[in-house]
Parts: sequence; structure tokens; C-alpha cells
Amino acid sequence: MTKSAQKHILKLGDSMNLKEILLKAKNEHYAIPQFNINNLEWAKYILEVCEEEKSPVFLGVSQGAMKYMGGFDVVVGMINGLKKDLNITIPVMVHLDHSPTVELCKSAVDAGFDSIMFDGSKYDYEKNVRLTNEVKAYLKDQLFEAEIGKIGGEEDGIASTEYFTSLSEAEDFISKTNIDMLAPALGSVHGIYKGEPNIQTDVMKEISEKTNMPLVLHGGSGLPENILKECIKNGITKINFNTELQISWHNGVLDFIANNKDVYDPRKVISSGEENMKSTIREYINILGSKGKA
Ligand code: 13P
Repeated sequence: MTKSAQKHILKLGDSMNLKEILLKAKNEHYAIPQFNINNLEWAKYILEVCEEEKSPVFLGVSQGAMKYMGGFDVVVGMINGLKKDLNITIPVMVHLDHSPTVELCKSAVDAGFDSIMFDGSKYDYEKNVRLTNEVKAYLKDQLFEAEIGKIGGEEDGIASTEYFTSLSEAEDFISKTNIDMLAPALGSVHGIYKGEPNIQTDVMKEISEKTNMPLVLHGGSGLPENILKECIKNGITKINFNTELQISWHNGVLDFIANNKDVYDPRKVISSGEENMKSTIREYINILGSKGKA
């Protein structure tokens, strides 16, 4: 057994492989949530709710979050420990989010991640295709996500139509790479939306129907229930959430600190955001329809 296989986190080995989990969601018209983690508490809260709700889950780990937590091995060790000690039975995909380099993807694979996103959207199209294929060649049985076009960023809160993904580009990219999930840029933004979100669900539907590729919606936070459901109807199979969890946790902590200025035990301070965060997670699982699908 290779080093990476030994440490592999999910290893369903049970009834479904990773790709089947995605295809099941696509066929049955629900989406699997990706909740990004920042620390031990976040991972624990997310796993506890997803286990209660019997929802499969992607735990998103950005490069910044990985560095904050100490490194890829810390993340893998921590999640493995939580899964064992909390008796987690649902499928948990530990996922590298928005990797800007091939090297980072390789390190996550070596550490035992289950799922990798290479984000070559800052490169020109041909280079994005080339580097996406370079990552793919290194993967073993990890799921693989790539991005084309440019998803709006936190800086502006508005998605620029200039960078939207077209059907022909999606078809071309899929024909030249061997990916499992595509993140097209169709109007969503990371962070807070400024103004009304304008998601191109018509193009989403076309891409989904013509390519049959599971599609990923980034920037799930701030999108209302009706838009999230419309996206799922039109082919979205995974939806990523980060900001909304941070905001709900922060609101809980602010309340606690306002009323408990003399409490300095970090466990009490950090966990004062737990209930808020958990109810946000629960709400998204209900909207996405992933409850009971594990
Ligand atoms: P939000 O922070 O807007 O929810 O976006 C999360 C995301 O897309 C991570 O890849």
C-alpha cells in the first residue's frame, strides 16, 4: 500500500466510490455541500451536523487555511482523528480548494486528501488546460475539480460578465482534460454579494445537459434559497460555503463577548459561535437536499 493510500481519509471502500457519490447527487437532483474549514472547531461542528443529518460533505481547505492549521498533514491527521473519535460514518471528502499551483496539489495528494481543485483561472486558457492535465497525471483515486472563466472575488463582490464561461469553452475544456467536476464562472462571487446576484442558470443548464459533467457552484454564501435550488435544478452538484459560516459564528461570538467580558477561557469564547454556525450548516443541508443521502 502506498503512503498516500494508507493515509487516505475517506476510502469509502463501502458501497460507493467517490465519483459515484457525485453522479448520484447529479442524477437525484440534490447538491453535496462543501463547507470550508478554518480550524479544529469548524471541522468538528461541520462533521457533527453532517453526521446528525446524514449528509455527505466536502471539507474545503484553502491554501491559507492549510497554512493556518499548520500544514496538510495536520489537516489529514485532525480529520482522521475526528472521524474516529466522533464515530463519523458519512462520506467525508477532504478537499483542496482553489489550488493555484501544481505543486500544492501534489502535496495535498501525498498527505492523503480525497479531492483536489486546481484553479488555473488566472492563466491563459491553454496553460490552464496544460496544468490541469499535469495535476491529473499525478492523482490516484482523488476527485478532481477545475475552474474555467473567472469566479468573482471578494474584492469587488460583483462577477464580471467578461470572464463568464461559455458552453463551447466548457465543452472544449472537458474534452481536453479528465476532470470529475467543473466550476464554471456563471455569476457567483466569493464573499458578500454587492447588489442582486445574477447567476446564468440558462448557460448552466446547457453546459450540464450537453456535457453531463457535475458542476460546482462557488460563492454559495449570500445566495437565497430559490437561487440555490434553481442552480441545483440546472446541474449544480456541489455548492461551496465559507463566508456565511464565518458570519454566523462571528455573530454568536460577538454576543457572547458583549455579555461576558471577563470570560477568557478560549474554549468558551470559540464555542460561543457553535450553535449559530451549526444552524447555518443545517439550513444549507436542507436547502441542498443532501439530508439523508449519506
Ligand atoms: P463563499 O465564501 O462566498 O461562501 O464561497 C466559498 C467558496 O466558494 C469556496 O471555494
